[in-house]
Amino acid sequence: MSSENSKNFSEESIFKPAKAFSKNARISSMAQYKRMYQESIDKPGVFWAKEAKELSWQKKWTKALDWKAPYAKWFVGGKLNVCESCVDQHLTNGRANKAAIIWEGEPGESRTLTYRQLHREVCQFANVLLAQGIKPKDRVMIYMPMTPEAVIAMLACARIGAVHSVIFGGFSADSIVDRLEDCQAKAIITSDGGYRRGGVVPLKANVDEALKKYKSLETVIVHQRIGSASCPVKMKRGRDLWWHEEAAKASPQHEAKAFDSEHPLFILYTSGSTGKPKGILHTCGGYLTGTYATCKYIFDMQDDDVYWCTADVGWITGHSYITYGPLANGVTQVMYEGAPNFPDFGRFWDIVEKYQVSIFYTAPTAIRAFIKAGDQFPEARDLSSLRLLGTVGEPINPEAWRWYHEKIGGERCPIVDTWWQTETGAIMISPLPGCTPTQPGTATLPFFGVDAAILDETGQECKANEGGKLVIRKPWPSMLRTIYGDKKRYRDTYWNDYPGIYTAGDGARTDKKGNFWITGRLDDVLNVSGHRLGTAEVESALVGHKVVAESAVVGCPHEIKGQGVVAFVTLKAGIKTSDALAKELRNHVGKVIGAIAKPDEIYFAPALPKTRSGKIMRRLLKELVEKGTISGNVTTLEDAQVITDLQRQIKK
Ligand code: WTA
Repeated sequence: MSSENSKNFSEESIFKPAKAFSKNARISSMAQYKRMYQESIDKPGVFWAKEAKELSWQKKWTKALDWKAPYAKWFVGGKLNVCESCVDQHLTNGRANKAAIIWEGEPGESRTLTYRQLHREVCQFANVLLAQGIKPKDRVMIYMPMTPEAVIAMLACARIGAVHSVIFGGFSADSIVDRLEDCQAKAIITSDGGYRRGGVVPLKANVDEALKKYKSLETVIVHQRIGSASCPVKMKRGRDLWWHEEAAKASPQHEAKAFDSEHPLFILYTSGSTGKPKGILHTCGGYLTGTYATCKYIFDMQDDDVYWCTADVGWITGHSYITYGPLANGVTQVMYEGAPNFPDFGRFWDIVEKYQVSIFYTAPTAIRAFIKAGDQFPEARDLSSLRLLGTVGEPINPEAWRWYHEKIGGERCPIVDTWWQTETGAIMISPLPGCTPTQPGTATLPFFGVDAAILDETGQECKANEGGKLVIRKPWPSMLRTIYGDKKRYRDTYWNDYPGIYTAGDGARTDKKGNFWITGRLDDVLNVSGHRLGTAEVESALVGHKVVAESAVVGCPHEIKGQGVVAFVTLKAGIKTSDALAKELRNHVGKVIGAIAKPDEIYFAPALPKTRSGKIMRRLLKELVEKGTISGNVTTLEDAQVITDLQRQIKK
């Protein structure tokens, strides 16, 4: 930041929402927020029941919350079909012919689905799934590009009570296998491929590769996205079916049956501190209520908005803020298939201008990439339709916040910096755009019903500006219900630090005004371009290569990605180090996990720093890559020479 630009701007700057925005916002004053927040904390059941009532229920619940820590049941006894709130209700509330999804493919084609069309597609595909014998609670994996069919597939699963598990299209065949095995999926829905940065991602071929290892899968349904020689597809008879052929045989009518409020809705895998991703389980009633209410209040969704969330449906942001929350609100949304820089860094702003997007939700890593690409891209487009901006995924650095505010928001759009997690299902800490004073770098205040706090090791609440662990002290509707198939890990990971209190795994502090400043993960989870990645996952991929004896992976600061991946690798005896080998290892990680996990840097180390009991001291490695030296005491090290050697390499 140049001193010229920073004159009127420092981390201390406070931005109040413009009167023009507040006037029409749902929550328009801090007094209103404070009153509603207090009510929601004093009587969470009453607050959330009021929100849930705005959704479609076939049978009303008898009790809002049943809490036997760490297990919550919300809207006990209630029955609903999530799909009815997201789609069917709009056929009779005046929105039938309103655009639900305006889709743009990376090559440039555009397609609009009204709520009525979406309903038809979802019903038809639900019938396709039923014809394949998919039953309630069966697990169905979805591995698709960003096309409306991904959303249709999710909703069709929800409609028939099947549990979807979406896997990000950037993940590899091996990652598919791990997840298939963990959730014992019965079917996969995929596409021949998807467009990404001008190329084609061969999704079906990846599935074929995975199914060589996971043989018990019964059905593969393939949506034809590419449909040309650039993406050849082999169909296995008796297992693989074309989406369009099956849909042509299926009726477009389907009556939505109600499921229990606690019926499982989806499993989404996310990284933890071991090599095995956690299958986060969400259920119907509470999750939908949480995503619905946060869209309504935090994105302040109005009937004439055009909303665009740039996340992929393979992440929780895509689940909550593309599929479920926005559709339950009946908003019009834009969905884009491809990369932000294809054909150049103006693509997002072209889309904003073309469809007159009014609410835009993206990640700090994308903003940093745009800053680097240059102001000429947004400056050449008309962005005046925007009225609200959001960010998610990692702390936003003040420099990026300022650029977003000025260059994209034209200094008129409030920015909601939303803190939440795969586990929380919905946004937990965020400004409300019509009232909360914002400040670059803080996600500000807890949402309604969220009892967030910072605790120290002894369980005492930290004082202002004292760092500690971010926790949530009361259950909330969209909270995870368990880790699929692993109750023990669920309890150990989230509920072990303080009895009955959810530990998020993030470090944070509050300032004197009560604003939350999130400082980052406290566990061995990295945040690479806003995506969670376990260091243990990368390590286990590396030691899976035949030349690697041992490895340790740590994060390092990265200009665009927020965090980069640094791997220290000890080779087996007799193997020579080389740049070509480093490249091979990098690609190997890409193949085992996916491109996002490829190490930015690989250091070959004859040995890794270890304690006398043989534990790798990652803390030291982290300090080494961050600062180039080690400040603290290294006497507990088994062999201090190791550090000196590594230091020399890193300097080079
Ligand atoms: C980080 C993404 C700071 C945090 C929705 C959290 C953030 C992890 C923010 C969850 C934010 C997310 N400010 N940090 N606004 N949003 N994080 O499960 O470390 O992919 O624990 O969910 O991202 O990542 P996940």
